[in-house]
Amino acid sequence: MLQDIPTPTLREARACVLETERLTLRKPTLADVKAIARLANDRRIAENTRRLPHPYTQDDAIDFVRALGAGGRETVFLIENNHTPIGMVGIDWREETSAELGYWLGVDYWGQGFGTEAARAVIDYFFEEFDLDQLISGARVVNPSSRNILEKCGFQWGGVELHRFEALGSSSPVDCFRLSRGVWTSLKRWNNSTRRES
Ligand SMILES: CC(C)(COP(=O)(O)OP(=O)(O)OC[C@H]1O[C@@H](n2cnc3c(N)ncnc32)[C@H](O)[C@@H]1OP(=O)(O)O)[C@@H](O)C(=O)NCCC(=O)NCCS
Repeated sequence: MLQDIPTPTLREARACVLETERLTLRKPTLADVKAIARLANDRRIAENTRRLPHPYTQDDAIDFVRALGAGGRETVFLIENNHTPIGMVGIDWREETSAELGYWLGVDYWGQGFGTEAARAVIDYFFEEFDLDQLISGARVVNPSSRNILEKCGFQWGGVELHRFEALGSSSPVDCFRLSRGVWTSLKRWNNSTRRES
């Protein structure tokens, strides 16, 4: 007899390491707090992420890592390139059935395609590991690089909402996007065609 196999919840999801061509994505630990604080303490990052405070101290990083260990509502990966931490990517589970992709990189690592590479790894992880039909995300309307990442990953624009940004101390318009399982599956199956003379 077939048994119902429940979808893993956030807390049940097994901890794993994701590897890409240039990056390793793994769970952050207390040994990483110095590096996290050094990378995250930049207004250009804080102003584009909703909950990152500015300035961002080592204590903020400690609280963040401890909350993850205590089974918080986020699945977060530290992004490493050549064994060096460069940023963070994760899924925020607002509710059991709603998941939001978020990411940031240290400024020194912008503009090299790392953001897209890390986002793709977590998107694959999400659709392979969880039985949900869509992933949502958002980028401030003044943040074209993040919007570009989402579009390159197949996200479709759904409208503009006002969201509060802690570092701004105010709300700001955000382009809202969603990636459906159908679009993700289609992109993953999109193999190269070949051309021959007729
Ligand atoms: C958003 C962020 C992660 C981008 O990382 P990144 O590694 O530089 O991004 P990528 O190199 O993978 O891709 C960025 C794309 O945007 C493009 N881009 C960058 N600046 C741009 C601009 N001002 N206008 C238009 N496009 C721009 C890049 O050319 C690239 O597209 P391409 O690959 O087609 O050339 C990084 O800037 C960041 O951490 N910002 C602060 C935090 C943040 O915004 N987080 C997202 C909110 S959830």
